[in-house]
Amino acid sequence: MARFSSTGALLLLFLPLLLVDSRPFDPISILRMPWDLDLGSEGIDEATVGTRWAVLIAGSSGYGNYRHQADVCHAYQVMKRGGLKDENIIVFMYDDIAYHEENPRPGVIINHPQGSDVYAGVPRDYVGEQVTVNNFFAAILGDKAALTGGSGKVVDSGPDDHIFIFYSDHGGPGVLGMPTYPYLYADDLIAVLKKKHASGSYKSMVFYLEACESGSIFEGLLPLDINIYATTASNSVESSWGTYCPGEHPSPPHDYWTCLGDLYSVSWMEDSDKHNLHTETLKQQYDLVKTRTQPNNHYSYGSHVMEYGDLNLNTKFLDIYMGTDPANENFTFSDNSLPSLSTAVNQRDADLVYFWTKYRSSPQGSSQKTEAQKQWLDVMSHRIHVDHSIELIAKLIFGSDKGLKVINNVRPTGKPLVDDWACLKSMVRTFETHCGSLSQYGMKHMRSLANICNAGISEKTMTKVAAQACASIPNNPWSSIHKGFSA
Ligand SMILES: *[C@@H]1O[C@H](CO)[C@@H](O)[C@H](O)[C@H]1NC(C)=O
Repeated sequence: MARFSSTGALLLLFLPLLLVDSRPFDPISILRMPWDLDLGSEGIDEATVGTRWAVLIAGSSGYGNYRHQADVCHAYQVMKRGGLKDENIIVFMYDDIAYHEENPRPGVIINHPQGSDVYAGVPRDYVGEQVTVNNFFAAILGDKAALTGGSGKVVDSGPDDHIFIFYSDHGGPGVLGMPTYPYLYADDLIAVLKKKHASGSYKSMVFYLEACESGSIFEGLLPLDINIYATTASNSVESSWGTYCPGEHPSPPHDYWTCLGDLYSVSWMEDSDKHNLHTETLKQQYDLVKTRTQPNNHYSYGSHVMEYGDLNLNTKFLDIYMGTDPANENFTFSDNSLPSLSTAVNQRDADLVYFWTKYRSSPQGSSQKTEAQKQWLDVMSHRIHVDHSIELIAKLIFGSDKGLKVINNVRPTGKPLVDDWACLKSMVRTFETHCGSLSQYGMKHMRSLANICNAGISEKTMTKVAAQACASIPNNPWSSIHKGFSA
């Protein structure tokens, strides 16, 4: 209703003029009077102008990361029911979940304990090794020539179009994961968004981002004047949270060993599932998701959902980006319309919950039990190795008393993680050359490496110190020699 009120007020103002004009009163012609064109975006229903595009990407692989691909499949169903066409929805997912041998319901993916299948109908645009930073950027930019493999679908948008991007994965300060190497760095993403804006090929863009430290992707980096509004699952210094995890409440069906969703992601989608998005604004959804995801001191979980970029856009209605399900036309937004969740699992520990649940649930003496135990031990020893190596490097560079303080420093709000991103990437490569891959867990140390750059330490010093700290590369599944570098 709100969007028509300004038109209504103007009509009332002009009514006396019309009557004096002695033309017969004809409401239809009044609605089409030329001054209607001067109303600007206020009077135009933007949801009917231009094309809606969506890019949905899960940045992980592996059954222990079930939840990211479940989030993305669910997002596809929201867009589809909202009326977006398949030709305008581009999906990136590794696609190793639905038919994974550990999936108790082959061919089905759920994103809620009682949820129905969200995998059905999802376009397999970019799967497996096609889920790369390069293809993701090419899709956003509408640059078919830059693609390697995949369906070839890209955001072939024009100046009236609206673009929605949703990304769900692990992350770390300044970085987002990918199921392939390299990972995605904030400066490269921002450069792509600026380039898309410079090409004049969208009216506005909304970016929803689930990852640990996801605020750091936009903090001090996303310009305010390129018509992009972003919200993130967490601020730039905290993890985001998995939900519907084994052993939590509500928990997945007993034969699932893995979390089914992420807290921020399921919060916006369960809200979008229920409401008439023609009457709910981005800001209303942001507030609701923020409340549902916020730190819960009693159960000690939760993160601070943040918004970045052009905040004026948050008065827009959600249907401009997601469409709206006609079945929800009578369900308008009201506060507290979703149950709050009583527990959640830190994204970085979700793999431990998975290994533990797999171990506990597998029969004594089974190969799966042995495998789960080995996976747990490998991942724990990798964590200890990475933590220890970073700590040792910091102490070797800055001294044993100051080392940890320097690398853990958090820059003031509004400042990006690092000034010299090329330095950060080169520090990552140097670390991984000598100490092995940071991997999913090790992304948390990006701030340490960034602070080594911020302190002006040279590449040469880092090389020397890393070689000293890591006498040999551990031989484990995370060796950068086998998998490639994350930068
Ligand atoms: C919404 O309410 C109107 C009026 O009661 C009704 O005619 C319409 O069928 C309802 N829409 C849906 C999708 O249930």
